[in-house]
Amino acid sequence: MLVALCAAGVTVLIDVRDGRLPAIVHWGPELPGLDATEAETLAGAAEPVPGSNNLEPVPRPSVLPEHHLGWTGRPGIRGSYAGSGWSPFFTATGVRLNGEPVDGFAASGPGVLEVTAADGDRLGVTVLIELLPTGLLRTRATLTNHAADIYQLDDLVLALPIAAEAAELLDFGGRHNLERRPQRSALTTGTHLRENRKGRTGADSAYVLHAGTPRFGFAGGSIWAVHTAWSGNHTHYAERVFTGEQHLGGGELLLPGEVRLATGDSYDSPWLYGSFGTGLDEVARRFHRHLRAREPRVTADRPVTLNVWEAVYFEHDLDRLLDLAERAAAAGIERYVLDDGWFGARRDDHAGLGDWVVSPEVWPRGLHPLIDRVRELGMRFGLWFEPEMVNPDSDLARAHPEWIMAAREEWPVESRHQQVLNLGIPGAYEHVKAQILAILDEYDIGYVKWDHNRDLIEAGTRTDGGRPGVHEQTLAFYRLLDEIRAAHPGLEIESCSSGGARVDLGVLERADRIWVSDNIDPHDRQSMLRWTTQLIPPEFMGSHIAAGASHTTGRRHDLSFRAATAVFGHLGVEWDLAQATEAELHELSEWIAFFKEHRGNLLDGDLVRMDTADEDILVHGVVSRDREHALFALVALDSVAPDPPARLRLRGLDPARRYRIRPQLAGAARSAPSHGSGAGFGNAPAWWGADGQGVTLSGAALEHAGLAFPRIRPDQAVLCRLDAKEELA
Ligand code: GLA
Repeated sequence: MLVALCAAGVTVLIDVRDGRLPAIVHWGPELPGLDATEAETLAGAAEPVPGSNNLEPVPRPSVLPEHHLGWTGRPGIRGSYAGSGWSPFFTATGVRLNGEPVDGFAASGPGVLEVTAADGDRLGVTVLIELLPTGLLRTRATLTNHAADIYQLDDLVLALPIAAEAAELLDFGGRHNLERRPQRSALTTGTHLRENRKGRTGADSAYVLHAGTPRFGFAGGSIWAVHTAWSGNHTHYAERVFTGEQHLGGGELLLPGEVRLATGDSYDSPWLYGSFGTGLDEVARRFHRHLRAREPRVTADRPVTLNVWEAVYFEHDLDRLLDLAERAAAAGIERYVLDDGWFGARRDDHAGLGDWVVSPEVWPRGLHPLIDRVRELGMRFGLWFEPEMVNPDSDLARAHPEWIMAAREEWPVESRHQQVLNLGIPGAYEHVKAQILAILDEYDIGYVKWDHNRDLIEAGTRTDGGRPGVHEQTLAFYRLLDEIRAAHPGLEIESCSSGGARVDLGVLERADRIWVSDNIDPHDRQSMLRWTTQLIPPEFMGSHIAAGASHTTGRRHDLSFRAATAVFGHLGVEWDLAQATEAELHELSEWIAFFKEHRGNLLDGDLVRMDTADEDILVHGVVSRDREHALFALVALDSVAPDPPARLRLRGLDPARRYRIRPQLAGAARSAPSHGSGAGFGNAPAWWGADGQGVTLSGAALEHAGLAFPRIRPDQAVLCRLDAKEELA
């Protein structure tokens, strides 16, 4: 049996012949005219030729590669019945495409292939391979133990084959305050392995692992990429074996003894997503379209949000917070989020975590006086929680020390003075759920910032001999989000984890926004926003304007650069507005008005990132889906080099239409002269025109001929607006 799936310019041809698990023959550009004969011919013609001393035939590994076929790379399943049954030999028992049994050749547009298979009467497996309407491929497996003995599963990974020309890798590293730093390397024989044992996605997660033709960029190169949609321990890997075959794979990383299947028990792997595209923008766009099709939808009219954290930290003073609310509303802000410090004994980060009861000491009348005023001012209200965490100095830890995750009698090493609440223990789970629901029932809260501020180290269940519990914890976290959302339909959730350490497609099935980083310095944010969009679209990225002097780096930046950086995500403000001058407040309100005018495109259009000759010059923008409007940012992170700079080119426009391109001056830059030196730039290019009206040029000319690049000073940005004028004759 051969099955072809085709969607959004991608074809996947899957070989399910000879009772084997599904193996991918082709995953890449669309293959027109792929009928039964062509599929059969291709599947045969693409079979590798054995070299000297090779197995014959050379094994074509399935998406769950099996050792018994002669595959010596990483197997899909590792586990055993106390040492026996360690090399499963699966025989397919059923093949269904979109629910219908397959016989011979079957084809579909977007669709899902389901293959069930058995290893004798011991193990059963169901493998799903789905091509989504966006052209995104995803696969997962469910393993079931039918034997009387316990089967210990040590590892289950899925793997997607990639072309031999994909010789260069791109994935990510990073740390707190500097998330998602891109790193490139060669794909050579062996394994590029990214393992995560942090119990959360991680600031240094591989995020999206790409393999592409050498020097692939935003616009060019054939690129295959994978993402493991899981918020607990996980792996991503790229593997090249001696026969030259290459894979990208991933799955959950299981701790020793974490998954032991008794008779009838099953293990569900997370989804492994695959995106193929020409250039990184196309790879990212498939992920974006997928998240944009998610229910409930995140819409482009999201409210501009104020978060009070960098304004007040733990100093919860009602008058000060009310004053902040007045100033926020006056500036045009539409949602007010109260951060850490409102509950229990949480006056700093040493105590109170885990006690989700409003502090009567700080809030004698509860949160009502604040929330009532916020609502009167026409803003929505949001509240911070960190439900999976506990300070040892808390009522919860004193009452239930056994609810804290630990692999031994002693508690694990502390991080930010906190330990982890074991959500795998039903009592602990119900306790925290009840406390959160009580707050949500009492107050008018439409938004929760859900934080998670430490790695899970030695995360076991003390009451069960210290058995590892990260797998259960991750599932319980998902269940808790699902149950809270079900109890409060319409509640929005922001996924925060020491900034941006929990960003993945698992959590984003249930969260509507992620906090990119605790570092709001726009110089660093330019890169973090740019690369965070490799997986998620702008409207999911919390993107704030903070104080002029960054609380993280100490660097100072003009409001125009802070704002021109932040408007390419879901805009927020995180700044003590009582410290802002009247001029700054006025400029801020202008930027907020600008964002509201453009958010329909900024948070809905297609993202474009240009490849530039100078890595300190960034050009990125958003083009509306109908190609009518676009907004681009030209950013200098350092002095422009070379001199003169390369031309400004813009992609993603309709080549057969003419556009007016003009500088879009907002905030202080509005008053800058269009020629000569002004805020943020030196000499303006002639194409700005004396009146800032710009010029009209075709999309093709803008992409291929380009314009003179404006002289931009370091750490400044200029926005350009494009509006379609006419079709070319
Ligand atoms: C984490 C978050 C911050 C803030 C603090 C509160 O660091 O990333 O945004 O909420 O916790 O303690």
